[in-house]
Amino acid sequence: MEDERFVDPKKSNEDADFESDIRPRRLDDYIGQTAVKDNFRVFIEAAEGRKEALDHVLLYGPPGLGKTTLAYILANELGVDIRATSGPAMERSGDLAAILTNLENRGVFFVDEIHRMNRTVEEVLYPAMEDFALDLIIGKGPGARTVKLDLPSFTLIGATTRMGLLSSPFRDRFGVIFRLEFYTVEELKRIIRRSGGILQVDLDPGAADEIAKRSRGTPRIANRLLRRARDFAQVRGDGVITLEVARHTLEKLEIDERGFDRMDRHVLQTVIEKFGGGPVGIDTIAAAIGEERDTIEDICEPYLLQEGFLQRTPRGRQATEAAYRHLGLEPSGSKEDQKDLFKA
Ligand code: ADE
Repeated sequence: MEDERFVDPKKSNEDADFESDIRPRRLDDYIGQTAVKDNFRVFIEAAEGRKEALDHVLLYGPPGLGKTTLAYILANELGVDIRATSGPAMERSGDLAAILTNLENRGVFFVDEIHRMNRTVEEVLYPAMEDFALDLIIGKGPGARTVKLDLPSFTLIGATTRMGLLSSPFRDRFGVIFRLEFYTVEELKRIIRRSGGILQVDLDPGAADEIAKRSRGTPRIANRLLRRARDFAQVRGDGVITLEVARHTLEKLEIDERGFDRMDRHVLQTVIEKFGGGPVGIDTIAAAIGEERDTIEDICEPYLLQEGFLQRTPRGRQATEAAYRHLGLEPSGSKEDQKDLFKA
């Protein structure tokens, strides 16, 4: 197993505290994801005009891009309470009933990691989503009967990193489905400056730029790097995050100029050196580097794919020329050979 990853976009406890302090509360303060925000402005106004709950929303995409933040903003913009839980935390249908019966009318019910919800709970949720009603079974055996329990109208907001793991009947019950995208360097710079302002740290523009470029398109990583740069500035410098301090911080954390950490480089190196550049199956890569397949698929791979360092082919993962160059290696075989591999 690798050491804990610094650029892991999964939420740590420190992230959770920090995020609740600096999380934007209005759509206008939420940077990036412009198309998604524009759509939500219309859907919110329309739902409010009809005095109805906003239709159920499914947000998906890699971790750390702001799905939870957006759910809280939507509740705030709708002027309603939000109840939050996660898929694995709802073990029994009773857990679901307890939350749903306590929602205010048109309130938001947020379920993180909704792909990990148990199937029985999921099926109890269907009538709740469609008719705002729960079908409860009272008693056991031949005397058991079902009782319909009316619920307040509500908006379910589900968040998932793994859209593919949701059953299609479940997916079909969401009226709004959006994928959150990686952020541009410009957007991350604005996020870093905003967070720096809230934390009251002195941050040089060059430093914000450097951190933004190495944050893997992910606000959670940008904010975490900002906090570590603040530590270095405070302990080793005069409190100002200069470009030099930012670079020193990134070097100490072994994050390279593309934002890759040891695990990213390990994946690329393994594909290239152990498997001739691929194609190689994800399970084989996971076994070779001693990591969980899910960790690689959820956390490492999306950014490597998006940046064109890895490609998915029908026969597995394939390192691209950019991956070879990044590691200072010569691509094996001619370009023509590599093209043939994608024809399969
Ligand atoms: N902090 C984390 N994500 C953010 C975003 N998208 N906009 C503003 N601040 C953020």
